[in-house]
Amino acid sequence: MKTTISQVSKYVGQEVTIGAWLANKRSSGKIAFLQLRDGTGFIQGVVVKAEVAEEIFQSAKNLTQETSLYVTGVVAEDNRSPFGYELQVKDLEIIHESTDFPITPKEHGTEFLMDHRHLWLRSKKQHAIMKIRNEIIRATYNFFNENDYVKIDPPILTGSSAEGTTELFHTKYFDEEAYLSQSGQLYMEAAAMAFGKVFSFGPTFRAEKSKTRRHLIEFWMIEPEMAFMDHEDSLTVQEQYVSYIAENVLQNCKLELNALERNTESLEKIKAPFPRITYDEAIDLLKEKGFDDIEWGEDFGAPHETAIAESFEKPVFITHYPADIKAFYMKPDPKRPEVVLCADLIAPEGYGEIIGGSQRIDDLSLMEQRYEEHNLTGDAYKWYLELRKYGSVPHSGFGLGLERTVAWFAGVEHVRETIPFPRLLNRLYP
Ligand code: 4AD
Ligand code: MG
Repeated sequence: MKTTISQVSKYVGQEVTIGAWLANKRSSGKIAFLQLRDGTGFIQGVVVKAEVAEEIFQSAKNLTQETSLYVTGVVAEDNRSPFGYELQVKDLEIIHESTDFPITPKEHGTEFLMDHRHLWLRSKKQHAIMKIRNEIIRATYNFFNENDYVKIDPPILTGSSAEGTTELFHTKYFDEEAYLSQSGQLYMEAAAMAFGKVFSFGPTFRAEKSKTRRHLIEFWMIEPEMAFMDHEDSLTVQEQYVSYIAENVLQNCKLELNALERNTESLEKIKAPFPRITYDEAIDLLKEKGFDDIEWGEDFGAPHETAIAESFEKPVFITHYPADIKAFYMKPDPKRPEVVLCADLIAPEGYGEIIGGSQRIDDLSLMEQRYEEHNLTGDAYKWYLELRKYGSVPHSGFGLGLERTVAWFAGVEHVRETIPFPRLLNRLYP
């Protein structure tokens, strides 16, 4: 019976054949332990000299790292391994012998590993991170589909900027100037007016000269947009969505969290509702914590966010930022127009801003005023203004950065390990 490692629990006591690679091995004169991986998981294969033909034992002992092979053996329960099963090997057939695999079990530097990202992805740690990424994507589709959202795909090549013009990737669109999308939001607003509740999931691009553990040049964002929902309604959606991700990762990624030695106690606390503080309260909190020179009107950097997050066990919403440091489309608070109806969701443990969101300006004349202030002219922005002209309604939305969320749940330090092929300031390879 040909099967995969993920399915072996169905075949306890039976003989199966698995296509696999040799991740690592250990052997003595009488026994060889093969660490096998097939993409779906990792399992130990045990080859006992006395129980197989001599040439099989020799071939097992001589296997080199990343050699591909078919392994045939009997599945047995094994309480000592976190996976719970092992394979008592009866036969093996080499498909392709691998020589001098560059990534050995010894320690390597990050740049070396990044240069070999195409091979590094095979490692147990990277496998666990990508499986958690996959689980977050799966949970995202489930959550929004179950709640009546329609998935809408905004364009990637655009003629306008959504989040300011300094971080745009320029490209030529035949004879016209075009950009790679920084955010699908403006298009998602149009979609919300057509479908009510929508979400997108796609790559976005920021030509940011930032070299921090939280910044990628190309990253993936989930952007829900909801008609007839105000700022408060949107916060409720956000905390339910993030709690749902937490519940699913904890339930479905036990092996992966274990492989990453992730402390799950903090993840178990991620349950709605989340605490909320205003920007004003955040400023006070920072002053109390010794950030003496922070002034009202300044944006928060990573150290500020980390300090604020330390005061809470759960992710925390910071709401009502000054209008001047936020995007042109955010709705001013009617009670206090110098601040906007927005929130950033800050993750605990130093993972920083995971979500940025807001209620959008729905009034045509106010939006026209913002256009003037921000110099948004030309046909590229005309259509967005028209959304305020034909049956404008209150609406809100947000963007969750996938890689920062994966880093947080997986407990990895840097976002570069949370995307298969990271695009960084100095890296377009592999
Ligand atoms: O706060 P941002 O810039 O918000 C927007 O783009 C809105 N248009 C979203 C919306 O309301 N539809 O980005 C949203 C999130 C951030 O909170 C962060 O998680 C992530 O995207 N993000 C990045 N992740 C990795 N690398 C970068 N350079 C990122 N920039 C933003
Ligand atoms: Mg933001």
